[in-house]
Amino acid sequence: MTDPVRDWHRLADTAVLLDGFHALKHALRFGAEVPVAVAVDRRAALALADELAPDVRDTLDALLTEVERDAYAALVPRPHPTAVAALAVRPSRAAGLAALARTSRSAPVVVLDQPRNLGNAGAVIRLAAGFGVTGVVTTGTLDPWHPTVVRGGAGLHFATTVERLTVAELPEGPLFALDPEGEDIRGLKLPDDAVLAFGSERSGLSAELRERTDHLVALPMRPQVSSYNLATSVAMTLYHWSATGGAPA
Ligand SMILES: C[S@@+](CC[C@H](N)C(=O)[O-])C[C@H]1O[C@@H](n2cnc3c(N)ncnc32)[C@H](O)[C@@H]1O
Repeated sequence: MTDPVRDWHRLADTAVLLDGFHALKHALRFGAEVPVAVAVDRRAALALADELAPDVRDTLDALLTEVERDAYAALVPRPHPTAVAALAVRPSRAAGLAALARTSRSAPVVVLDQPRNLGNAGAVIRLAAGFGVTGVVTTGTLDPWHPTVVRGGAGLHFATTVERLTVAELPEGPLFALDPEGEDIRGLKLPDDAVLAFGSERSGLSAELRERTDHLVALPMRPQVSSYNLATSVAMTLYHWSATGGAPA
């Protein structure tokens, strides 16, 4: 019989931590390879699956191993209320680049230009999954697969493509960069193959990103307000794309 704790330690350095039942549920739903999954109360986890995720119940039944609470607590940075955790194989960069390079896109790519806040990046990945976008690309130093980003994304990294690139490596396609100085988004239709770029929380769009921009686009906002939060800006823009013809799958 395999020892889940030993497997965990063998894989932890390179794998993606799925922290809690919902992250594991999402990752399985979207095809993640999950070599090890543990629960403090296996029966309770499967009851949750019966209630909330019958589509992955059998997979969870085959995957989940019950461990003592102390053993579980030693595997995760802080215990999750569901006391479920798993490790997933991180998709290869080659696969991510190939997905982003496809030119006949039916949904935009979201670019976060030098984001700083891990929670924002996670929230954007969750939005991207919900709207069925092709991928989320970050530029700069933030790792979009950082455990805090994965936690914020609720395991939905596996529902889209997530990569870090330089501005020069961004996918082809008309680049619409969001900035309060741009043209009002309400008069525009965003094409399905758009690259939608958003600036950093502190300093907005970088000079390099601005140079690659085809259209500067603004979200409606009263003049006394300086800017919206990054993730809410992405939400409004994706909603606009969907409401003007782009459709989540
Ligand atoms: C918190 S804002 C950046 C604020 C920053 N101090 C600046 O100088 O732009 C983060 C990003 O959200 C987007 N954003 C925020 N409010 C916006 C608005 N009213 N119109 C278009 N984009 C907006 C932009 O892409 C912006 O770079």
